[in-house]
Amino acid sequence: MPSIDKASDNGEMKQRQPEQELVCVTGAGGFIGSWVVKELLLRGYRVRGTARDPADRKNAHLLALEGAEERLTLCRADVLDYDGLRAAFRGCRGVFHVASPVSSDPNLVPVAVEGTKNVIRAAADAGVRRVVFTSSYGTVHMNPNRGPDAVLDESCWSDYDFCKNTGNLYCCAKMMAEITATEEAAKRGLELAVVVPSMTMGPMLQQTLNFSSSHVARYLTGAKPTYPNAVAAYTDVRDVARAHILVYEHPNARGRYLCIGAVLHRAHFLQLLGDLFSQYHITAKCEDDGKPMAKPYKFSNLRLRELGLEFTPLRESLYETVTCLQKKGHLPLPVVPITQKRAYL
Ligand SMILES: NC(=O)c1ccc[n+]([C@@H]2O[C@H](COP(=O)([O-])OP(=O)(O)OC[C@H]3O[C@@H](n4cnc5c(N)ncnc54)[C@H](OP(=O)(O)O)[C@@H]3O)[C@@H](O)[C@H]2O)c1
Repeated sequence: MPSIDKASDNGEMKQRQPEQELVCVTGAGGFIGSWVVKELLLRGYRVRGTARDPADRKNAHLLALEGAEERLTLCRADVLDYDGLRAAFRGCRGVFHVASPVSSDPNLVPVAVEGTKNVIRAAADAGVRRVVFTSSYGTVHMNPNRGPDAVLDESCWSDYDFCKNTGNLYCCAKMMAEITATEEAAKRGLELAVVVPSMTMGPMLQQTLNFSSSHVARYLTGAKPTYPNAVAAYTDVRDVARAHILVYEHPNARGRYLCIGAVLHRAHFLQLLGDLFSQYHITAKCEDDGKPMAKPYKFSNLRLRELGLEFTPLRESLYETVTCLQKKGHLPLPVVPITQKRAYL
């Protein structure tokens, strides 16, 4: 059986093969964290995953991953607890800092920012060489003063005051956290690469519903009677995980990497969902009826494509999101004619 360690217990070293590199993933049990752990195990890494409560049933899926028995240990660490992080990073060459509250609750903003400072300091103190930080495209696109033809790339930042004044404290927290990671890593001589994913779709490994998967589920359960006149960008979770590993493994990868597959108005997103799953009643009513449709913005994902990342088509990603939600019991199963089941192929 894979072991669940306390951060202070290094018994796990007994299972390790010395030639395999040890890395740590914070927030290992979450939606993206779980896929990062899975991809790392598939590539032969020894992985230490952190969770606030590793023994919680919600993390059990990690122990069933291929390679987990031999090469995964879980340890307890809250990002607000420097000592726990320091112990979790001991012996690691790399840290993937994925953990963050995904919320606009003002009380959680300091967790994202202080937590990131703790992670970078603990990593530097533990002798870690490379850190990959999971940011968000909320740090990039929230700027009302850009023209519709602008192509957003790694040099673009959201307007902090605009985010704050519109209640997007999650974006404020991620901006401050990313800047903190960059400044602290530079001070301490740590190599840092930042993956900047958009709204992340695709199959969940964990049982509990994360925020971006519930974004899809709410339209299929009828919980959303209208949709906003808004544009969003989407990426598949497996692409996000591969991006983390690509930037980690590429020796010259530094700075930000936009991880964005497709940009769609919500109306088109829901049309796609309706094409794939016509058995669900999906709202066709826009909150802003009568007003001009918000224009899609453009992104460059060239930096990641140059490292070799191929983005999963959104149609495929959405199909797998919904079938996964059904299998895990988050959506009722409609009767689907066989011919429609793999309509995206
Ligand atoms: N999903 C998206 O659409 C998306 C898009 C862009 C960026 N991101 C970023 O990707 C990362 C993961 O998001 P996700 O979608 O995978 O969300 P998720 O499933 O809710 O996972 C969040 C993780 O953060 C951990 N966490 C929260 N507060 C913590 C604390 N105080 N100390 C330690 N760990 C804490 C949670 O661990 P516990 O198990 O201990 O609760 C959980 O594993 C976040 O940094 C998020 O900002 C997500």
